[in-house]
Amino acid sequence: MKKIYIVLAALLAACHSELPPAAAPAAPSSVPAAYAPHPQRQPSVQELTALGRAMFADTSLSASGRVACASCHSPDNAFSPANNLAVQLAGADGKTEGTRAAPSLRYMQNLPPFSEHYHDDDGDDSIDAGPTGGHDWDGRAQTAHEQARGPLLSAREMGNRDDADVLARLRSSPLAAQFRQVFGDDIFAQPQLAMQSALMALEVFQQSPAEFYPYTSKYDAYLRKQAGLSTQELRGLALFNDAAKGNCASCHISRINQSGAFPQFTDYGLINIGVPRNRKLAVNADPEYYDLGLCGPDRNDLKDRKEYCGRFKTPSLRNVARRKVYFHNGSFTSLEQVVRFYATRDTAPEQWYQGRKFDDQPAGMDGNVNMEAPFGGQRGGRPRLSAREIADIVAFLKTLNDGYAAP
Ligand code: HEC
Ligand code: HEC
Repeated sequence: MKKIYIVLAALLAACHSELPPAAAPAAPSSVPAAYAPHPQRQPSVQELTALGRAMFADTSLSASGRVACASCHSPDNAFSPANNLAVQLAGADGKTEGTRAAPSLRYMQNLPPFSEHYHDDDGDDSIDAGPTGGHDWDGRAQTAHEQARGPLLSAREMGNRDDADVLARLRSSPLAAQFRQVFGDDIFAQPQLAMQSALMALEVFQQSPAEFYPYTSKYDAYLRKQAGLSTQELRGLALFNDAAKGNCASCHISRINQSGAFPQFTDYGLINIGVPRNRKLAVNADPEYYDLGLCGPDRNDLKDRKEYCGRFKTPSLRNVARRKVYFHNGSFTSLEQVVRFYATRDTAPEQWYQGRKFDDQPAGMDGNVNMEAPFGGQRGGRPRLSAREIADIVAFLKTLNDGYAAP
């Protein structure tokens, strides 16, 4: 709880500092920053969480009137989509196809802000882990606060034109009264503050522990010594951790860290693992279009860093068995298929790619693709994981679903 208050204080501070400087920047203002505009009322965490939860589910905040955050991030499915579409349909007409799979929103509470040179504080902190962190598949949004504006304004998501559009909808939505109650009667009179407040409610909701990081999986129970794993699940865990076999844990961290925190199943790194092109996506009808993650097109600050092309954020694998589609482009539809891809990407590339290996990036970028285990091996050679070992890893992955009840 303490952490939330600290986050909240930081948010309130951040929200103030984002306001434009007072009228005449030349003359130093006599008003200290702490007195910058703030909501008439100081809301409690509980009020913000309840409001954020209601906003998250409210379709009236979208241009089509049919899309809410919850449409793509279903609370009943670990905040990932409940349907089996590779990408979701939304936008102003409610039918515009997205370009990336909607991720689960659970276990983001420790996500570091994006950094090109990340130094881990759990282990050897002199090692530069490279591009790490940030929200979205390409790490482009620094905070959930900043992130939340994205879907509200995205033409492929909630389809609002600008902040004023969002506020107009909020003001005439069933939530307007609750919004005024939480932030004060005059909140809509200060549009910038009202928008910040709306984003803050969404962010605070997305940090509520019971809903967003409950740690109630079978694996958590196992770590707490409250449950045992089956022999198959234990074999899967060993393969997941073994650097010469699955080596999955080198990116999807599975151990309790030095300070005793339970694992998030990601190191937040952005890595190119050569996910095949999803030819069913509308955006991919254009053979010249490539979603290259870190180097664009959805972010453009690193577009000249060709060595970053094709890097996407390592997702947490918690609740991954609840997903219906996998990877940033939703090109895979079963966990068995995903693990088989890892095992045979280099030994049998013809099973995965059309035309040429690494078909979802322009030719000449093969050097960007990660070659560590479980990847590598000669074409036609023996994969690092057998069919049985793949099944074992899949069995282990299923222990990462929240909501485990001891038999
Ligand atoms: C039409 C489907 C859709 C809607 C509606 C939607 N999202 Fe998302 N969300 C996505 C997709 C797709 C991504 C990944 C975007 C990317 O990587 O570029 C995403 C990413 C996110 C992330 C970043 C997760 C990460 O991996 O870092 C957060 C947080 C998030 N959404 C919150 C929200 C909130 C809050 C709302 C409502 C205001 C919302 N989303 C509405 C589809 C949607
Ligand atoms: C070198 C780092 C690395 C290693 C090793 C690794 N992964 Fe991943 N994993 C990633 C990245 C990066 C992605 C996202 C790639 C993308 O979408 O472009 C990913 C995505 C996934 C996904 C899809 C999750 C989702 O939400 O769509 C699954 C499942 C997965 N990995 C399982 C595994 C398993 C099992 C292993 C071991 C056999 C493994 N990974 C090894 C980096 C790694």
